[in-house]
Amino acid sequence: MVGAESSRSSPGVDEPVWNAFVEGDNLDVLADLAEASYDLIYIDPPYNTGNDFVYADSVRGPRNGAGPAGRHAAWTAMMRPRLEQARRVLAPTGAIFVSIDDHEVAHLRLLMDEIFGEDNFLAQVVVNLNSRGRQLGKGFATNHEYLLVYARAAARCVLDPSSPDAVDPRDFPHTDEGEPRPYRRLPLRNTNKKFNPVTAPTMHYPLHGDPETGEVRTTPFDGGQAILPVFGDATSAVWRWSAPLVDARPGDLVCRWVRTRAGERVDIFQKDWLEPGRRKKLRTIWLTEEVGSTDTAVAEVKALVGPLFESPKPTGLVRRILSTMPSDARVLDFFAGSGTTGHAVALANLADTGTRTCLSINSAEPTRPGSNAANAGYATVAEITRARLRAVAATYGGGLSEG
Ligand SMILES: C[S@@+](CC[C@H](N)C(=O)[O-])C[C@H]1O[C@@H](n2cnc3c(N)ncnc32)[C@H](O)[C@@H]1O
Repeated sequence: MVGAESSRSSPGVDEPVWNAFVEGDNLDVLADLAEASYDLIYIDPPYNTGNDFVYADSVRGPRNGAGPAGRHAAWTAMMRPRLEQARRVLAPTGAIFVSIDDHEVAHLRLLMDEIFGEDNFLAQVVVNLNSRGRQLGKGFATNHEYLLVYARAAARCVLDPSSPDAVDPRDFPHTDEGEPRPYRRLPLRNTNKKFNPVTAPTMHYPLHGDPETGEVRTTPFDGGQAILPVFGDATSAVWRWSAPLVDARPGDLVCRWVRTRAGERVDIFQKDWLEPGRRKKLRTIWLTEEVGSTDTAVAEVKALVGPLFESPKPTGLVRRILSTMPSDARVLDFFAGSGTTGHAVALANLADTGTRTCLSINSAEPTRPGSNAANAGYATVAEITRARLRAVAATYGGGLSEG
């Protein structure tokens, strides 16, 4: 197990050390970690832009340099065993977030589907880290990259994709007599065309509804008419609720007239209640105003240890990721770079008195000759990670274990 030697700066004897750092090739370090020992993994691997990734493993798979297909194959071969290890060390209730850009997002998505299972895919988030857009080079001014989010097991995952902001009550305009909670209407029909009478035959069945009273039942009744789910173009659709669920929660449904281009018809809606304290769901587009930018990230590193790292992530991005998991999450970042994840964990703990812990891993990759880091005497990226995490502990507390 990793994390033996400790250079704590502030936590008490019984308090967890917030940050730990291990220098080494992540494949070797991951192999030493216990199964199911992390709740949240965030990684930001090399994006394979052509000069940020050297194939280093000794024998496995193809090497860089055999054209685009060879480059993708080499990158995938580098990532595969690391993601397999990531799955092994992830708790059954845990989740993994991976930053990636257009170079490898397609390959990474397929690889993650293969390793974590398509059913455990939670989101492909677009993250805008450069609001001006990249001005260098030809072509579009790219603003964004991605986060691929997978659960270890979707049914057990504790990830809560809600934002700290309360929902806007104006989005819940309907009320029922004698019912204090307002609600909005959501179509009971499944609007995702992937689900249709062929792919989900048990969800295509008639419901009975009375648009005058709003009543909905699974069986015929006086004043009710049979209603089948249809898409806007009148093709057959399926309901989102099974018949037993409709029987169990008839008060959460309402039947009403809807106007369509083809005339009026009767349809069924779910009453989506505004419960007290209900929070907004996190969207799948995250903006620089919300999570910071590459520029703010560079400034964060500079403020702690100097301008040593060219492509860090903003702590705001990692803090938003942390906010989806419990405040005692055991966090792992095995492509730690400048140590943003450890920094974000300390900031999050300070903000909500959480007890998150974070293991950061980075190899002793040599810094680029002529870079600020090399000029400042940092021979390897691991030295930068260590320097920032020491500065985090000195500035915010929480300590640092160095293995
Ligand atoms: C894109 S950077 C991560 C940046 C980080 N998210 C931040 O905010 O500073 C990727 C890092 O992975 C490290 N790395 C690449 N291959 C590695 C390996 N096999 N084992 C450990 N670290 C590795 C590189 O040294 C680099 O620092």
